[in-house]
Amino acid sequence: MKTKITELFGIEHPIIQGGMHYVGFAELAAAVSNAGGLGTITGLTQGTPEKLANEIARCQEMTDKPFAVNLTFLPSLTPPDYPGLVQVIIDAGVPIVETAGRNPAEYLPALKEAGIKVIHKCTSVRHSLKAQSIGCDAVSVDGFECGGHPGEDDIPNFILLPRAADELEIPFVASGGMADARSLVAAMALGAEGINMGTRFIATQDAPVHQNVKDAIVNASELDTRLIMRSLTNTERVLNNDAVERLMEKEKALGDKLRFEDIVDEVAGVYPKIMHEGTMEVGAWSCGMVAGLVSDIPTVKDLIDSIMTEADSIINKRLSNF
Ligand SMILES: Cc1cc2nc3c(=O)[nH]c(=O)nc-3n(C[C@H](O)[C@H](O)[C@H](O)COP(=O)(O)O)c2cc1C
Repeated sequence: MKTKITELFGIEHPIIQGGMHYVGFAELAAAVSNAGGLGTITGLTQGTPEKLANEIARCQEMTDKPFAVNLTFLPSLTPPDYPGLVQVIIDAGVPIVETAGRNPAEYLPALKEAGIKVIHKCTSVRHSLKAQSIGCDAVSVDGFECGGHPGEDDIPNFILLPRAADELEIPFVASGGMADARSLVAAMALGAEGINMGTRFIATQDAPVHQNVKDAIVNASELDTRLIMRSLTNTERVLNNDAVERLMEKEKALGDKLRFEDIVDEVAGVYPKIMHEGTMEVGAWSCGMVAGLVSDIPTVKDLIDSIMTEADSIINKRLSNF
């Protein structure tokens, strides 16, 4: 399938794996890229420029296809060495960067000068237009359904995607709630040039995370995610568990007085324990409503192949028969 996104990134299928903290290691990024999609290494999981350079080199050994690095800009008391991370991305010849969290304008000139394509992930039409105006090549439009940070507008993709299509000139992919061929075809009908998936890619054999994480997604329904940290204007969609219930009790009790320090036990530093050790109840971890559509743990290649085959059948058989 040729779309503006496959052309822009030089990939075979319009399917992107979004950056995911403690999931987006070289193994997953390479598996997605080798299957014809666009895999993404998560920069901040590596943390330092040296470690990121090493992870990029590992990925380059596993694939000769294009892959991306995600740079998430988060408010932080001790910010990561972003200029250093950008420099190793440039030095390693990574062709695509996925930015998220806030406006990437500060780093755009360096990335563009190096010929790197930038896809900015954001949750609103106004942020998408901003990304376009500062020179991003594409946008990943992340609807309210998404795992991770859906923003504060709460606009689901059935509204957000056609709104983005009405306003944007640069190509965009649909992110949030995407799981299968139906998602891909629907997203294209709403104006997207492809899809970005997070949660669905965690429940694959290639995702380098503990089996408990994959099983938790398979066992979850669409009713099992919760929104946390709303009063901190840092809303995150996570899978419900004991830690999330504890956290929500504190949110309820403290209301607008809640500070980050009050919930630090449930959210800080929990990803390695969950993703590597499989201690699922230790804290809150991002997960999309799309978990309700995930019932198997295929290889990345089988997943992508089946999406493309079934998309063809939906377009050429089901839809063309109407
Ligand atoms: C476990 C997990 C960790 C994530 N970490 C990040 C991250 O570090 N940076 C980022 O930009 N997006 C992150 N995301 C968001 C994904 O890249 C993607 O936008 C989102 O999962 C799409 O929604 P979906 O889960 O419904 O497919 C994360 C998502 C999950 C599920």
